Amino acid sequence: MKKRTIFLTLLLFSLFMNGCKYDFIMPVEVPPITGTVSFSTQVVPIFTAGTNCTSCHKTGGQAPDLTTANAFASIVPSMVNTATPGQSMIYTIPAPATSGHTWKKYTAGEAAIILAWITAGAKNN
Ligand code: HEC
Repeated sequence: MKKRTIFLTLLLFSLFMNGCKYDFIMPVEVPPITGTVSFSTQVVPIFTAGTNCTSCHKTGGQAPDLTTANAFASIVPSMVNTATPGQSMIYTIPAPATSGHTWKKYTAGEAAIILAWITAGAKNN
């Protein structure tokens, strides 16, 4: 009888401990976007910095041409959808959650900047 009590106590205790399991899923921190997103100072550097995109998407290379000189003409209006910004090709194709475009994807922060720029009208500012 005593053994059984100890066993039940341990069983209940282990169940209780399992109930206290933590989930170590770190939320992705995306800094809030404040003010107007500038195409030239915020969007273009995503494409060109460290030849992030322009190693492939360069003049005479893979379309779209994302170099500083040609990025705007290459993606506006063909790859932006200002009516439904979330459906813009320049946003969806390299988005962090897509299964395609395995060469390179935006970080969550970069994707947020691209989306905010399109939402504000995809201006050449
Ligand atoms: C290592 C080479 C490489 C890099 C780096 C790269 N891409 Fe691509 N990208 C490609 C290739 C190849 C295709 C064509 C794929 C296809 O047609 O299925 C493509 C297609 C695309 C398309 C769709 C073009 C179309 O007309 O369908 C977009 C938009 C795009 N890339 C954006 C980007 C952005 C933004 C970056 C940087 C974050 C980037 N790519 C980095 C190779 C690359």
